[in-house]
Amino acid sequence: MLIRNMHTYDIKSSEITPKSAYFSRRRLLKSLAGGSAVVAFGPYALNNNTSAATKIPNLKRTKWTLKSLGESVKLTSYDDITSYNNFYEFGTSKGDPKRNARLLKTRPWTIIVDGHTENPGRYAFEDLVKFDQLEERVYRFRCVEAWSMVVPWVGIPLANIIRKLGPTSNAKYIAFETLADSKQMPGIRSRVLNWPYVEGLRLDEAMNPLTLMAIGLYGEILPNQNGAPIRLVVPWKYGFKSIKSIVRITFSEEQPPTSWNLSAPREYGFYSNVNPEVDHPRWSQAKERLLGGPTNMLGFVTKQPTLMFNGYTEEVEGLYQGMDLNRHF
Ligand code: MTE
Repeated sequence: MLIRNMHTYDIKSSEITPKSAYFSRRRLLKSLAGGSAVVAFGPYALNNNTSAATKIPNLKRTKWTLKSLGESVKLTSYDDITSYNNFYEFGTSKGDPKRNARLLKTRPWTIIVDGHTENPGRYAFEDLVKFDQLEERVYRFRCVEAWSMVVPWVGIPLANIIRKLGPTSNAKYIAFETLADSKQMPGIRSRVLNWPYVEGLRLDEAMNPLTLMAIGLYGEILPNQNGAPIRLVVPWKYGFKSIKSIVRITFSEEQPPTSWNLSAPREYGFYSNVNPEVDHPRWSQAKERLLGGPTNMLGFVTKQPTLMFNGYTEEVEGLYQGMDLNRHF
């Protein structure tokens, strides 16, 4: 048994955060450090069932880190990212996932791969995620509820996994499914959504270099409430596309169903690209509140304009050439 490391985070954060904010974040992270035990797992010490985890060594910072964000960006605090969550399998309030997800057992973890692929089968998490391919990427993350964060994810490009799995020429889409186990996930007893939670992407969206399979944040293994052990991150789409705790990947010829589209088709389309010009039927998408962002005189976080494709236009606009994004929302 190993004792958990301090919550250290030592990419050169001074490059991306004003010094004062950087040091206060270090203090916050230190204050979060506890003494809970972790289980040794391969070359890494991974937590078996709670949010605590150790640091992932040798992370690469690639050209995507900080892309479109500018040098003065401030990361959303670890506390905000891990305590203000949407993970309906653990309850619908923002604080429920942190409270309830400790029941989730994330090791061992098996992912079924099926559909139009040359290599279908049951894969252990470690067979799909090669630790020497892990990168750190700081992405904007925009929720459809008009709040946003800046998150230092750790993950591997989904394209690497797809290449390994070898989709056949019939594969036009990739579909994902979350675990649905009512013994571990108390929210599943509610009918708020159809379970399991499902999501999908067009294969070219999935192959885009920005699309990440995240296994960590702030240099550490993902806490359960953020979708451990493996979740999707698609930074130019609303947060609900970023499906958590994935247990199945299916390559399909037809556009796959998605949970929010099934639940409210008028409100949530398949594409769900961040688009300030296309409002949600019940609220505007033109602005957002950055968690922990600047506040007004009354102490409320001020709204800031939402950017087309969440700021990633250069990287992704080619995917939607000729499409009417009002219709394909
Ligand atoms: N994945 C599953 N399985 N269940 C969910 O309820 N919520 C989605 C997405 N992935 C959700 C999910 C929504 S609405 C958002 S905004 C993001 O997860 C939130 O991710 P975060 O809690 O890590 O910020």
